Amino acid sequence: MLTFTPRDRLKLIAGGAAVLLGGCGGGSNSSPPPVTIPPPVPPTSPPAAFIPTAGQFKDSFATNFQVGAAIQTSQLNAESEAAAIVADQFSSITAEFEMKPDIIAPSEGTYNWDPADQLMDFAENNGIAVRGHALVWHVTAPDWMLSGTPDEVKTKLQTYIADVVTRYRGRIYAWDVVNEVITDDDSAADPYRRSNWWAASGGNADYIDWAFEAARTADPGCRLHINDYSTEFAGKRRRLIEVVRDLQNRNIPVDGLGHQMHINVGSTAQQVFDAVDDIENEFMGLEQHITELDISVYSDPGSCFSNQTGCQADYGANIPESIIRDQALLYRDIFEGLKTRMSVNSVTLWGVDDGQSWLNRFPVNRTNAPLLWDREFEAKPALQAILDPNFTP
Ligand code: GLA
Repeated sequence: MLTFTPRDRLKLIAGGAAVLLGGCGGGSNSSPPPVTIPPPVPPTSPPAAFIPTAGQFKDSFATNFQVGAAIQTSQLNAESEAAAIVADQFSSITAEFEMKPDIIAPSEGTYNWDPADQLMDFAENNGIAVRGHALVWHVTAPDWMLSGTPDEVKTKLQTYIADVVTRYRGRIYAWDVVNEVITDDDSAADPYRRSNWWAASGGNADYIDWAFEAARTADPGCRLHINDYSTEFAGKRRRLIEVVRDLQNRNIPVDGLGHQMHINVGSTAQQVFDAVDDIENEFMGLEQHITELDISVYSDPGSCFSNQTGCQADYGANIPESIIRDQALLYRDIFEGLKTRMSVNSVTLWGVDDGQSWLNRFPVNRTNAPLLWDREFEAKPALQAILDPNFTP
């Protein structure tokens, strides 16, 4: 089909007018050729931004899983576009920082509940469920909790967990009881991370048992999870399976496994499905959550994470459209595939909008765009692809 720019149209009309004028006054005997004036073509404008209908994202997966987002209290003010999006489109939230021990219990015997309470109120006022994250994580363990003999440490950890889990009992549907306790070392003799918690337990993984037992006592109805990253890789997954198997064999109350899924545009949906399917095959009845999903626009080598070398150059404001398209297709395939996996009952994105994502600072400072809303809070092709099977990004 021919298309005409406004300039072409003007030329045609002028030309047609000249022929008509010639026909009237030119004195020629032959009849003028018929002139067809094309219909006006509207000026080309960028396609309208996609706007999901009220509740569309969470409703689309309501029979499959909770649709979650990590959020922080600084995003909860009245003008916050992120809060408005979460209230409208998500059925679950996770506190990005506010439910970690360094925030809740900065010093022994002092609790700082306000930030966590604010998030809890926001969730409850908007009919949103809350995932608790995380009771034990080596990065956010306050020094006071780790000092003393293993027995003293056990008492401090169990008191902390009893107090936190009891405070929110019945209001948090799942807690990440332990986060990132598996080693990244593929040649390690045992699967456990050598962390400050390992040391404080007396050079063993007993703290994991203490934590799960205390959480179960404090809230018997809450689902207790072990959460980790890189479960899309077979080695890490094998070690995680070994630990869960051991916990189950000793009747330590673990109900679920969280896959963080910080992946990138070079990852495949099949990697995500392999992670979920392997766990489903190993452990009948263990529920699975995707807990921190984001898709970086950079496919970095391992060295970028270990010593910040070899990282892909910063795209700045010019992230290629092809990358945003690949990201959309990957998001679409992941959500489509997770729908059919019955053990998955919660999928959380690690943030709402690209501007706020931790990946703008990790592993290096660089403009990243790993989420479903952009820096202007407009829905990205990824969200449209997830929600509309006929949409081609
Ligand atoms: C890990 C933690 C999260 C968060 C991210 C980075 O994945 O589990 O709580 O801190 O790192 O933001």
